[in-house]
Amino acid sequence: MVVLVRVFINGYGNIGRRLASALAVDKEIQLVGVAKYSIDDKVKEALENHYDVYVPKEAISSFKEQGYNVTGSIQEAVEHCDLVVDAAKEGAGYDNKKNLYEPMNKPAIFQGGEERNGDRAVADMIHNSRVNYDRAAGRTYVIQGSCNVSGMGRVMQPLIQKFGDRIKRFDIELVRRWADLEDTKAVKDSIEWDRDPHHQDDVKDFIPNANLYVDAFKVPSRMMHLHQMFVRFSDGVMPTKDEILECFRNEFGVAIIASAKGTGDVRKKALELGFPHGDTNMVHIHHDILRVQEDTAKIAYSDDQTGMVIPENHLLIQSMVFRRSRDEAIKRADNLFQMNKRREILEEEFK
Ligand SMILES: NC(=O)c1ccc[n+]([C@@H]2O[C@H](COP(=O)([O-])OP(=O)(O)OC[C@H]3O[C@@H](n4cnc5c(N)ncnc54)[C@H](OP(=O)(O)O)[C@@H]3O)[C@@H](O)[C@H]2O)c1
Repeated sequence: MVVLVRVFINGYGNIGRRLASALAVDKEIQLVGVAKYSIDDKVKEALENHYDVYVPKEAISSFKEQGYNVTGSIQEAVEHCDLVVDAAKEGAGYDNKKNLYEPMNKPAIFQGGEERNGDRAVADMIHNSRVNYDRAAGRTYVIQGSCNVSGMGRVMQPLIQKFGDRIKRFDIELVRRWADLEDTKAVKDSIEWDRDPHHQDDVKDFIPNANLYVDAFKVPSRMMHLHQMFVRFSDGVMPTKDEILECFRNEFGVAIIASAKGTGDVRKKALELGFPHGDTNMVHIHHDILRVQEDTAKIAYSDDQTGMVIPENHLLIQSMVFRRSRDEAIKRADNLFQMNKRREILEEEFK
């Protein structure tokens, strides 16, 4: 008999709506519904997708007056679920935890915009399925690392496993998209820097010994992030380009591609191929610009900003709730997201 776990998704933005469409078709999950806070087109979308929509108690009548047949209050939904996947706008997860999840003893997954340290910390662990999947088993509160942090772990860990102490340091220049495809906010014509990028500390939460330095720049694009990773080797014996690529041949959620000219090509291909939400859900190593020069390997990969964390959240549920082995969880995620098949398609399209 299949044991259903009842999951409520608190937030229906770029991440919440993707989580909803993935979790709704998992036969082990009963999607209790999604939360909406504002009255806008997304309420209609959620109802048309046959999700039960829950809203703040005081707003139920306003939603109903606008013709939206919402099911009840967010409080009721949290009461009825076994696990909350919090997909709130950045920083709101902390108040949700204090006001709802803790008083009702509900476990929750938070997203990468929440704090790991300080007064507003929501959990004491950041999950990265490639590195610390097993540590999440049975935990009550866990943060799923952000898209960039998830991508960094996915690329760094296979290198660390293969080359170990030979790696002296990692430097990553992170080129960030300005907005997501669905965002209505304007894309500003500027290149902005981040004075204190969180990615470095977040990655060190699950790879504590990594000698990692991250700089982040936001550019006027909606089409994915690009990371330029510099891996410095200490012993003067540099691996070849093929040896580096070999690390990633069988990695879940890593495609090795060559002929894309930019991140837009990959995103547009995903849309053209009809991938759900136009996401690839992975990182793409651009091997045409992978270089080994003196003591440094330069690895550039694009990171599907909206898609990366969706299979990651699914894997995290496999660990937290079902306490499955990572191999078993990866099989299930592959079945749901068709990651290997989609990787093959992308590698063929961009060979
Ligand atoms: N976008 C990405 O590429 C990306 C990638 C990885 C991780 N993340 C992380 O995922 C989280 C969500 O990001 P997003 O891009 O999905 O944001 P978003 O598109 O701005 O959506 C945020 C959602 O939060 C809802 N909301 C408002 N107040 C809330 C509350 N108190 N509790 C719960 N939900 C509330 C909003 O509802 P209404 O629309 O009804 O007002 C909206 O649906 C953030 O932590 C972000 O850092 C984002």
